[in-house]
Amino acid sequence: MKALVLSGGAGTRLRPITHTSAKQLVPVANKPVLFYGLESIAEAGITDVGMIVGDTADEIREAVGDGSKFGLDVTYIPQERPLGLAHAVLIARDYLGDDDFVMYLGDNFIVGGITGLVDEFRHNRPDAQILLTRVADPRAFGVAELDASGQVIGLEEKPDRPKSDLALVGVYLFTPLIHEAVRAIEPSWRGELEITHALQHLIDSRADVRCTLVKGYWKDTGNVGDMLEVNRTVLEGVERRIDGDVDDASETIGRVVVEEGARIVGSRIVGPAVIGSGTLVSDSYVGPFTSVAENCRITDSELEFSIVLRDSSIQGVGRIESSLIGRHVEVTPAPSVPSAHRFVLGDHSKVQITS
Ligand code: DAU
Repeated sequence: MKALVLSGGAGTRLRPITHTSAKQLVPVANKPVLFYGLESIAEAGITDVGMIVGDTADEIREAVGDGSKFGLDVTYIPQERPLGLAHAVLIARDYLGDDDFVMYLGDNFIVGGITGLVDEFRHNRPDAQILLTRVADPRAFGVAELDASGQVIGLEEKPDRPKSDLALVGVYLFTPLIHEAVRAIEPSWRGELEITHALQHLIDSRADVRCTLVKGYWKDTGNVGDMLEVNRTVLEGVERRIDGDVDDASETIGRVVVEEGARIVGSRIVGPAVIGSGTLVSDSYVGPFTSVAENCRITDSELEFSIVLRDSSIQGVGRIESSLIGRHVEVTPAPSVPSAHRFVLGDHSKVQITS
C-alpha cells in the first residue's frame, strides 16, 4: 500500500497567519501539521509516499526532504496548478501503479492517527473507504448523505444546503478502481476535478464505498478558536522534557517541553506548554496550553492558552490569553503620551482591546 499526500495548492487561502507560505506547514504544538500526517502514515506501516506539490514546493521539500526522518521514502509529484483532489490522483497514476493507497490531505489533522483505519481497510478491502466527522457548518466541506443502515448514498461538495452535518475528512482509502472514476468526471463549478464527484461516480456504479465516523479532527479554516483547540489537544499528550537551560530563579511545572537552545530566566512555566529552541523567556509567566515557537523573546509578560510563531517578541505587555501571534511580530507597550493604541496589522488581523 502507498500513500498520496496532497501538499499542493497556491498557498493563498490561509488566514490569518500568512498569505504566502504553505498551509500544510502551519505549526501545531510547534510542529507542522503535515508532519503529524506523515508520522501517522509511517505508523500505519506505509513507507512509499507520493507527495503532490505546487507553488510552495520549495518550502515543502525543505521541510520534508526525502522523508527518511519519518522512516518514509518520499517521491515528489509536481502539480502545475491546484486543479483538484481528483486531478492529483490523475497525475499520480504512474507512481501509484496498481497499488491500494491512502490519500491524505496535508492540511488535515486526525487525532489518534490512521493505523486502525488502514488495518480495517486492508482487512475488509472495500472499493473505497471515506472518513466522516460531525461539524457545525458543513458548507465548507464535502458532505455525505447516509441511508438508515449507515450506507453512503450521496456526496456533495460544499453544498449551500447540506443534507447532513457529516463532513468528509481529508483521508481517503482507495483501491485502483478510483483511477477509472477520476478519468470519468468533469471539472466542477469551481473548475476543480473533485474527489467527491469521483466517489459519487463509484457509488453510482454500485461500487462498495464504506464510511467510518471519526472524532478529533481538525483542518485549518482560518478560525483561531479551532487552532487554539487543536494546539491544546496535542499539548495534552506531550511529555515533560527539559533540554534547554532553566535558571535557578525559574520554575517549570508539569508537562513542560523546553527545547535545546531555549532559555528560561526568572520565569514560571506551567504545562502543558512547549518553548521552542532559541527562545528566551525572561521575567515572565507562560501558562497551560501555550506553544511558543523558535527564536522568540518573551519578556516581562504573561501568556496563556496561546500560540506564538517563530521570531516574535512580546515585551512588557502584561497578560495575553487566547491569542495567535504570527511570525516576526512585535508586541510592546505604547509610550505613555499621547495615550493611544498604535498598530501595524496585516490583512485579516483581529485585535481586541481591553482598556
Ligand atoms: O479537508 C477536507 C475537505 O478537503 C473535504 O471535506 C472536501 O470534500 C475536499 O474537497 C477538500 O476540500 P477543500 O476545498 O478544503 O480542499 P483544499 O483546496 O483546501 O485542498 C486540500 C489539500 O489538498 C490542501 O493541503 C491542498 C491540497 N491540494 C488541493 C488541490 C485543490 C493539492 O495538493 N492540489 C489541488 O489541486
